[in-house]
Amino acid sequence: MDQQQRLARLFDELADTYDEVGVDFFQPIASGLVEALEPRPGQRVLDIGCGRGAVLLRLAAAVGPNGSATGIDVSPRMVQACIDDAVRANVKVEVRIGDAMAPDLPAGTCDLVASSLVLFFLPDPHTALRAWRELLAEGGRVGVSTFGPYDDRWAQTVDDALRMHVATGTQDARTNGRQGPFGSDEGMEQLLADAGFQGIRTERSVVKPRFESCEHWYEWSMSVGQRQFWRAIPDDQLGEVKAAVFAAVDLCRDDQGRIGFDQTVRYTLGER
Ligand SMILES: C[S@@+](CC[C@H](N)C(=O)[O-])C[C@H]1O[C@@H](n2cnc3c(N)ncnc32)[C@H](O)[C@@H]1O
Repeated sequence: MDQQQRLARLFDELADTYDEVGVDFFQPIASGLVEALEPRPGQRVLDIGCGRGAVLLRLAAAVGPNGSATGIDVSPRMVQACIDDAVRANVKVEVRIGDAMAPDLPAGTCDLVASSLVLFFLPDPHTALRAWRELLAEGGRVGVSTFGPYDDRWAQTVDDALRMHVATGTQDARTNGRQGPFGSDEGMEQLLADAGFQGIRTERSVVKPRFESCEHWYEWSMSVGQRQFWRAIPDDQLGEVKAAVFAAVDLCRDDQGRIGFDQTVRYTLGER
């Protein structure tokens, strides 16, 4: 099974609970990206790796009935969940299965291309960005969100405790690119520049997911890409690992005593 099939299976597994467990994470991140992209009525927009539509539904509302909003995702269950969410929100979108490495749209037909928390999953982000640039009309804009730094305390307790029990090769989107382009604003800007974009700039925000309890955090953790870590733990060790990781989670509390971490989000923007 190749990387794309593995990711499709992972996101298929978690699509029903993704962004549905009462934690403010993907929505504020999406909202920041849409704000930075400043969509206008009538524009043609594409959301790559749209998931359940955190970005796509906002874009569709902004471009209105005279615009068009298309989403693609590699996970069939995410695509279906996104369509269902759009119907519930009464927003017109077109959503289909598609590969971010080679989106199947005609060249020069998008005013905006958005992609939130996807680029670091791709086998070759540079090639993907070049392909996305081709989809843009002259003067069209791209915006991608990726993870910046997050709480050292959380990284050194919770994430280290979890990682200790998992075979190497399992990747955490928040940390797997620390040394590469995903490790800094400059690295991301260079990635866009190398793909031919101009007028590149970075905006940042901080999101602060909070959890009611260790169990609530676990429920969230199983509803996001981190699920792959839990899946990699043999059944007979799961109880022991959960106890160790929960002990670490319980230590990471804010001034109000709430469990959580602060996550910097990086928005990298460019133009064709
Ligand atoms: C962390 S989720 C982000 C979803 C959405 N953009 C959001 O902000 O909520 C990553 C998404 O990327 C999708 N994805 C991963 N690799 C992909 C690929 N090669 N092509 C298209 N989608 C992909 C996954 O299926 C998943 O829905």
